[in-house]
Order: sequence, then structure tokens, then C-alpha cells
Amino acid sequence: MPVFSSAHFDNHEEVVFCRDAESGLNAIIAIHDTTLGAGLGGCRFWPYADEEEALTDALRLSRGMTYKAALAGTGRGGGKSVIMGSPRDIASPDLFRALGRFVDSLGGRYVIAEDVGTSPADMAHVRESTRFVAGLAGGSGDPSPATALGTFVGIRAALKHRRGSSDLKGVRVAVQGLGHVGWDLCRQLHAAGAHLTVADIRDDVVERAVSQFGASATDSREIHAADVDVFAPCALGAVINDRTVDALKAGIVAGSANNQLAEDWHGDALAARGVLYAPDYVINAGGIINIAHEGPGYDQAKAFRHVEEIGRTLTDLFRRSDSEGLAPHTMADRMAGEVIARAKDAKRRLAA
Ligand SMILES: NC(=O)c1ccc[n+]([C@@H]2O[C@H](COP(=O)([O-])OP(=O)(O)OC[C@H]3O[C@@H](n4cnc5c(N)ncnc54)[C@H](O)[C@@H]3O)[C@@H](O)[C@H]2O)c1
Repeated sequence: MPVFSSAHFDNHEEVVFCRDAESGLNAIIAIHDTTLGAGLGGCRFWPYADEEEALTDALRLSRGMTYKAALAGTGRGGGKSVIMGSPRDIASPDLFRALGRFVDSLGGRYVIAEDVGTSPADMAHVRESTRFVAGLAGGSGDPSPATALGTFVGIRAALKHRRGSSDLKGVRVAVQGLGHVGWDLCRQLHAAGAHLTVADIRDDVVERAVSQFGASATDSREIHAADVDVFAPCALGAVINDRTVDALKAGIVAGSANNQLAEDWHGDALAARGVLYAPDYVINAGGIINIAHEGPGYDQAKAFRHVEEIGRTLTDLFRRSDSEGLAPHTMADRMAGEVIARAKDAKRRLAA
């Protein structure tokens, strides 16, 4: 299995393979870049098909965290961990304690948090072995409201850029996924006067949105093609793909889902069709911003003011994207790279 020559390695600083035979832990911790601070990133627990798939996921996700943290101004770097296996079969307090010992051995270069397949309760077991844990119950709380707020201000920034006004009154928004983030986003959009079209695979939440927000319900496989102004994917990744990209009617794609572009070129295809895309890792950074504020003096109002900065970041990004002729998803990577390069230069000058 290639590591250094993996297409996703991209100058990772450190990749740690962790095994604890007694608890059955097989995990990988990937630290991509700590120029801006400790690598902060969640722990994904997933039944990967093989080690290569797990490594690829860890590398791809930790690099993504570097870029996300850089543009979110969190003073953190990028890292991620993955545990191989099905949580239902092998999760145990001992397994998380063992993982905590590996995290601790990194001396704070990696700060772990929850992600798909792990919970605050699991992180509490990790905490028994290390203090380098974020997102604990009783800390900054559920990150979803912060993510929803960031997505809301991001939609407004996209509207302002596209139409000259961020006013949501009468704006038609299609929200795919009415979970933790999607529901709270709908609540804010409805309060601001938007007309909602919604879809979810759960009928109960759809019915609730219809009665509470006056939303129109539509098929979850077809919502991308709704006749709306904004499409907000808040459920699955890869929703902009070969099947959907040409069917979009919305002029703006701005939602919380991770990895919305099935492949990079789908971002170019959106730009070519005149669809303004708010890059996922920029608009959905509210949760990580909130977590980065966690600590003894945690102040939610201050953290949420920081989350609202996502609007300004996106405005800068859209402007540069226009003036430099680069699609927003490419512009985002460039801007994140610039933040890190500037910090590296500053460190070099200090050390000289
Ligand atoms: N929660 C956060 O703070 C956060 C932060 C960053 C990114 N995200 C991303 O935002 C998205 C939503 O996160 P969440 O925390 O609200 O998740 P969630 O699990 O609470 O909600 C997801 C919702 O999508 C629905 N869904 C699943 N498949 C669907 C489909 N095919 N069509 C329509 N709906 C479908 C589910 O029924 C559920 O209601 C995810 O992609 C997540 O990775 C979340």
C-alpha cells in the first residue's frame, strides 16, 4: 500500500498507524499541516473495505481540515483520524481509551473530536487517556446550530454577490436534508421570508417542515432540479455529479453537506453554467469554528460572531473568483494555501 506516493499524501506531516490488539483498535491518525496550530479534526468510525481505503479517507479528510481551518481563521491546523470497523461490532470504552493513548502520545499535535460513527460519549472515554479532545458534552455543545448559522450567512453572501441584495424575502430555497443542520437552516430561512422546498428520506420531518414553515415537499432524488433560486444540499456528499449537474435550475448552490462535488470538474461545470457555488468547506465551517472556541472561557456569542465571518470570507472568495477567472472551489484551495504560506513565511522570519 503506497503511503508517501499516494495521490492523497500531499506532504502530510505525520501519519500514525495505531493498533491495540486487546480492544481490537485499528486506526490511522493523519496530521496534514500544523503551521497554523494543532491539527483539529474528527474521528470517523467506518467499516472500510480495506486499509488502503481507510488511509485514503484519513489523508483526504485531514488535508480538507487544513484548508477548512485556514479559511475559517480558527488558528488550527488539519488532522483527522479513522477507526477501521463497524462501530456496532467493535466499539467499546477500552477501544476509545486506547485511541486516546495514541492521541496523547502526539503531545497535542492532533486534537480529536467526534465525526461520523463517533459520539460525545465515545469522546468522553478518549478523554480518560488524553486532554487533547474537543467537542465533549458540556463543552461547546452540538456544533450543528453554528454550522446552520454559517450556512445561512453564506447563502446571504451568495445572494448579495449574485443579485446585489442579501434580502431573503421571497427567495426560493430548496433544502435537501432536514437533519440537525438542515432543520435549523430552514428555521432561519423561513424567519427571513424565504419560500422553502424541502426533501428528506424521513417523511415525518418533511411533514413537520410543511406544517411549520409552509414548505413545499418534493422527491429527495429530484430536489436538485427544483425550480428555485438557491439549492442547499444538507444531507449527502457527491450531490453535484454527472446525473445532477446539468439539471440544476438554481443559480446558487450553497449548503452544509461535506464533499458536495462528486469530482472537481463538477465545480468547473457549475461555473461554466453560471451557477455560483459556495465551496462546502468554507460555508460549513461554523461547527469547527465553534469547537475551536471551546475552552474554560467559552463564550457562545463570541464564537457565533466568528461564525458570521463566513459571509465576509465568501464575499472575498467570490470577488477573487470573478477577477482571477477561477471557479470558487479552486479559488478556495488557493486562498487557503495563501493563508498557510503567509504563516510559514512569518514563522521563518521569526526564526531567522
Ligand atoms: N452537523 C454539523 O455541524 C456539520 C458540520 C459540517 C458539515 N456537516 C454536513 O452537513 C450535512 C448534514 O449534517 P447533519 O448534522 O444535519 O446530519 P443529520 O444526519 O442530522 O441530517 C441528515 C439528514 O439528511 C437526511 N437524508 C439522508 N439521505 C438523504 C437523501 N438521500 N435525500 C434527502 N435527505 C436525506 C436524513 O434523513 C437526515 O434528516 C452532512 O453532510 C454533514 O457531513 C454537518
